[in-house]
Amino acid sequence: MKFFLDTANLEEIKKINALGLVDGVTTNPTLIAKEGRDFETVIKEICQEVSGPVSAEVISLDYDGMVAEARKVAQWAENVVVKIPMTEDGLRAVNTLSKEGIKTNVTLIFSVAQGLLAAKAGATYISPFIGRIDDMGEEGMQLIEDLRLVLDNYDLQAEIIAASIRHINHFQASALAGADIATVPGKLFPKLWAHPLTDKGIESFLADWDKFQEAL
Ligand code: E4P
Repeated sequence: MKFFLDTANLEEIKKINALGLVDGVTTNPTLIAKEGRDFETVIKEICQEVSGPVSAEVISLDYDGMVAEARKVAQWAENVVVKIPMTEDGLRAVNTLSKEGIKTNVTLIFSVAQGLLAAKAGATYISPFIGRIDDMGEEGMQLIEDLRLVLDNYDLQAEIIAASIRHINHFQASALAGADIATVPGKLFPKLWAHPLTDKGIESFLADWDKFQEAL
């Protein structure tokens, strides 16, 4: 499974990228707004830091607007992926853009039907939002499992990005369900390598070592 960071914060990205664990980045208008800086500048900086795909979302909701924005955003860097919302106009835009060789990430996917349509339209990536489905009292992870099965059944090439990941279990279950990618919030990522038993183990090993040294 590839690891993407779901953040527009360059410092967070740099920190995790130094571990060699960042395969790509996803952003959305909320994450960009949090940074309070110019959209184009932020995306260009992230694209320079990370060699993998970096998703930047369009704001337009109509076909012409989406396609125009996507063509502009796609020129910002070689590794930009244009994020398109899952709507009728969005599907049409994805179809046009895929024919032009522009990579797309269809976002806000909440059903198998939406994911299947996006993949058929030519999306490079599809982003089912696990956490937001859980928020509705349903089982978000089931959608990842179902989409994996459907894409494999029909040999569709779109990659599944498990998105709206809220905790470690979402991350682990995404890997078990065969998601191609998990996009993890910058604040959550450090929790993936932490475990209380690891800390406890290190502490007791070092305590035993100190006792051994004193005894020499
Ligand atoms: C993914 O591309 C989205 O940016 C993100 O995962 C949304 O997550 P949220 O539901 O926590 O806002």
